[in-house]
Amino acid sequence: MEEDIKELEDYAHLNGIPIMEKDGIIYLTNFLKKNSIKSVLEVGTAIGYSAIQMALAVPDLKVVTIERDEERYLEAVKNIKKFHLEDRITLIFNDAFNVSLSDKFDLIFLDAAKAQNIRFFERFEKNLKPKGVFITDNMHFHGLVQEEDTSKMSRSVRGIVRKIREYITFLEENEDYKTEFISIGDGLAISWKK
Ligand SMILES: C[S@@+](CC[C@H](N)C(=O)[O-])C[C@H]1O[C@@H](n2cnc3c(N)ncnc32)[C@H](O)[C@@H]1O
Repeated sequence: MEEDIKELEDYAHLNGIPIMEKDGIIYLTNFLKKNSIKSVLEVGTAIGYSAIQMALAVPDLKVVTIERDEERYLEAVKNIKKFHLEDRITLIFNDAFNVSLSDKFDLIFLDAAKAQNIRFFERFEKNLKPKGVFITDNMHFHGLVQEEDTSKMSRSVRGIVRKIREYITFLEENEDYKTEFISIGDGLAISWKK
């Protein structure tokens, strides 16, 4: 099993596919166990690495995960089969902005386009159970969000940094949620619905 996980990590690194950092995954899987999370909606599957890690950590967990890139989606289908997790991980191949779900989840994990987090949050908020939690990855964006001088960044990077900062303000000012920002992996935001 560990070898198969390592294979996923190697594939992602070799092919330039961004997957969760190791300590982020450890935190996330412990979080699921500690808070008795039984259902997760993930926005941003890539090759299925985080969905597989979550499902392996909690034996009765159900995950629905959305990916818009066909090559990555097909790789995720293959990987989920390899781990025999087809009955607990549902893959949706589509742009998340075209996906409408009626199910409600204990946890919604936002790990897709970093500049779109406010829109993802607002789109899927109705799918969060009362007292549920959003977790958002890449709040540090490789340390660039904390960087005061943005003048040396490319325009596109500067744009993403600005959007992540806007998302931080959005979470801080959102009175329906209590958000904690933690410096694990690439920075996580944990937003509990009050
Ligand atoms: C950081 S990767 C996900 C990594 C994965 N959660 C893991 O840790 O194994 C982000 C993924 O989100 C996908 N993505 C970005 N915007 C999306 C959207 N609007 N709808 C669906 N997928 C999207 C990208 O194609 C990319 O594969």
